[in-house]
Amino acid sequence: MEHYFDNYKRQLSLLLDRNRTLKYKYAIFKAVKPDDIVIDFGCGTGILGFFALQAGARHVYAIEETSIIDYAKQLANKNKFTDKITFINKSGHELTKQDIPQQVDIILSEPISNLLLEGNAWSAIEHLKSFLKDGGLILPAAGTLFMVPVNSAPRTFYDSEFFIGEKNVYNLDFMELPRHVFYKSTLDETAWLSKPQPLLQFNLLSDTLSDTFRNSIKFSIHQSGQLFGVEFFMNVQIFGNITLTSRDQQEYPSWSPLFAPSSFNPYICRGDLLRITVWNKVLSPYKCEWNLEFTHHSKLLLFNDTWWRAESAIPTLAPGVILSDNGLLFLHRDEFSQYDCDTELEWDFIQLFPKKLNCNEICQTILQSEKYSLSHEELMDNLIQLLHKLLINSLIDLPIPSERFQVTNFHSKIYIP
Ligand SMILES: C[S@@+](CC[C@H](N)C(=O)[O-])C[C@H]1O[C@@H](n2cnc3c(N)ncnc32)[C@H](O)[C@@H]1O
Repeated sequence: MEHYFDNYKRQLSLLLDRNRTLKYKYAIFKAVKPDDIVIDFGCGTGILGFFALQAGARHVYAIEETSIIDYAKQLANKNKFTDKITFINKSGHELTKQDIPQQVDIILSEPISNLLLEGNAWSAIEHLKSFLKDGGLILPAAGTLFMVPVNSAPRTFYDSEFFIGEKNVYNLDFMELPRHVFYKSTLDETAWLSKPQPLLQFNLLSDTLSDTFRNSIKFSIHQSGQLFGVEFFMNVQIFGNITLTSRDQQEYPSWSPLFAPSSFNPYICRGDLLRITVWNKVLSPYKCEWNLEFTHHSKLLLFNDTWWRAESAIPTLAPGVILSDNGLLFLHRDEFSQYDCDTELEWDFIQLFPKKLNCNEICQTILQSEKYSLSHEELMDNLIQLLHKLLINSLIDLPIPSERFQVTNFHSKIYIP
């Protein structure tokens, strides 16, 4: 099987990312002192080790498990570094004192994926720490992977959905293909349903590094919307104040934020709690499975809940809201003009809302129903849910008995193929 990085084009694309490479160069020139002994772990084309020698290092041990190391040797020769580099074509886990017979001042590496962890590289760095002098340095110094639930899916998801999990594509059935994979995310912050939270945080020197993890994060929802999935992005501190992030908009970026679709798409409301537990499994180098377990504590109350009919429960709502006999809540028409609406249906529905409620979402729901050719019933269902959500937003501070709230659990398994 071809190794992910045993590929000249992939290594070239790392060099083409000038933002990444120059930041590493600045960091290495700041960190390396004359006569330092350096490990360049996962050296690829050898670039980080070459920077270290340019910065004055005495010797570099360049470790790489793929055959790309042959290019690194040629480049070392061409740039007259051969005497100062020992190339070791091995996995980082297998290194012994015979390979590296002295303690080193600095370990350099770039083991960073969009999800921070990269194959089995982090545990290899943990092993390499035994070769580091007391007071030695590791670059990068630290990394954080953030996670945030989002209210829409990026284009890459919809584009791939055409091929993945569709019944009729080119007259063939593609339903067998897994739909739950990571997609490149181009969403902006308006899609965030909550504040991003750190899911994984490492200080490479002081923490014990591992390739797998499990963590559980609680999100307080600050914007209502339908949960489509989760966005991940990472920040890395290379050295001092020199940092990289997958949210950088650069030419030839090596990283991007990723979107993971959730297996279920409930409406979640401002004030709800969403707990997401994440754990990963390394299936083989560069093949990973991530599991996402969601627990949604919802403030959504069903329209037919008898609680609405209890006299004491009748809330003081926005002007124009009444409680109907069948338990549904309706809103009076309030100064809307039919000319504000694009379709008759939109007008019918908006008549149910007081003006202070934002009708953008209603328009979007209607437009989406046209795009995905939903039936009238499906559209009405969506609109009712939306009405419900907008109402809940205005009820958010009501003392609703907690047993009325729904708790829903669901699970998504996401693959990095
Ligand atoms: C993202 S690339 C970085 C290459 C180069 N350092 C650069 O900055 O352009 C990571 C490299 O680490 C190597 N690598 C990953 N895990 C390794 C391991 N356990 N042992 C040896 N090399 C490894 C990969 O083959 C790949 O060439």
